[in-house]
Amino acid sequence: MLKYIIPLVPSLFILAPEQNDVPKLPADVAAEYRKISTPMDYNQHVKPILSDKCFACHGPDKAKQKAGLRLDQSAAAYGFLPESPGKVAIAPGKLAKSEVFHRIMSTDPEYKMPTPQSHLDLSAKEKAYLIKWIEEGAIPAALGFCEANQKTCSVHSCILEWCEPY
Ligand code: HEC
Repeated sequence: MLKYIIPLVPSLFILAPEQNDVPKLPADVAAEYRKISTPMDYNQHVKPILSDKCFACHGPDKAKQKAGLRLDQSAAAYGFLPESPGKVAIAPGKLAKSEVFHRIMSTDPEYKMPTPQSHLDLSAKEKAYLIKWIEEGAIPAALGFCEANQKTCSVHSCILEWCEPY
């Protein structure tokens, strides 16, 4: 018996770190995740979701911002959360460290995002897109897009602002 177990041990160590950061997803989200065949593009796949489902409370309008969090600028989204010391909304490439991931997957009405009262529920596909994008490094809009669309935007500020004028 031992001779079967011992060869398994090193392979478990090799697999472990990668599996740690890919949490098990509910079946509907996992099915949508498996259907994704292209790398996520901020403007095409991500911005429409954040804009429809999150910006009402985490967008540019300061008066409506909840928890001091804005998700329309990458600097704020990658930075420490004003109301949750030590945590960040989006940790590029690290799902388990991204508060956004825990919030969108939660079933706890006190914790989940968007808030149940807002009736802005995310579909399984939208969750899968956000998850894949964070895993791939939460990459902002391509610079080419910025340059073509924003005359006044420097390369640096394009990255910081997800390429959004505000
Ligand atoms: C209708 C308003 C509303 C919408 C829409 C909304 N949120 Fe929130 N969000 C809140 C409120 C209120 C809080 C603060 C209370 C709390 O922490 O649960 C919050 C807190 C958060 C936090 C935690 C901040 C912290 O300091 O810990 C994250 C992360 C978050 N929202 C992400 C999202 C994401 C991602 C979306 C879109 C998918 C979203 N929210 C949509 C109202 C909203």
